Parts: sequence; C-alpha cells; structure tokens
Amino acid sequence: MKILVTDQSGVEHELEGLDGWRTMEVIRDWGLNIKAECGGACSCATCHVYVEDGWFDKLPDPSDDEEDLLYSTLDKKPNSRLSCQILLSEELDGMRVTLAPSAA
Ligand code: FES
Repeated sequence: MKILVTDQSGVEHELEGLDGWRTMEVIRDWGLNIKAECGGACSCATCHVYVEDGWFDKLPDPSDDEEDLLYSTLDKKPNSRLSCQILLSEELDGMRVTLAPSAA
C-alpha cells in the first residue's frame, strides 16, 4: 500500500509500506526528514505529522500519552498526530500526511 507524504519543503513523495507498519517507519526508512528520536515508543513527538484530506477521521483516537505529547509541540494543529502511532492498514491506503516542522 502507499502513502503520500509532503516534506517540510513542500515536496510530495509516494512511499510504499506494508500492513501493520508504523507510518513513521515508512517515512524514516525512505529517508525523509523525520527524527523519530524515541524509535516509536510514543515519548518524543519528533514524528509529528498533519493528517490531510479526511484521512484524519479514519484514525483510531490517540492515547492519552500521544495527546499529551502533541500538546507539548509548538506547531500542533487540529489534524496533528504522531506518525509512530498510526499503523498502516488497507483502510489507510493512499493516506496523505505532511511532516510538521517539529519532526525535523
Ligand atoms: Fe517518538 Fe513517535 S517516534 S513519539
């Protein structure tokens, strides 16, 4: 399945991932500008993305830990999520996200 990721300079990339992979892992492994310092443990917020085009509503609600971390970012928006907490699935095939400045 694929996801469409816009980087911090506005360039869109079409990336391939597999069911069950973390969105953060796909973005990192394709070499885009994402720190993901904690490696997906939901403790750093440097995998922050904005989820676009109605895809946001398809995601499970964030955990309390994820919400707390998102509130600690200066560039939080209503469609902010931590990409390490978004597992790819058929339903999310074609999902479009934008890397937040704070992910770099
Ligand atoms: Fe650290 Fe997502 S990689 S919170």
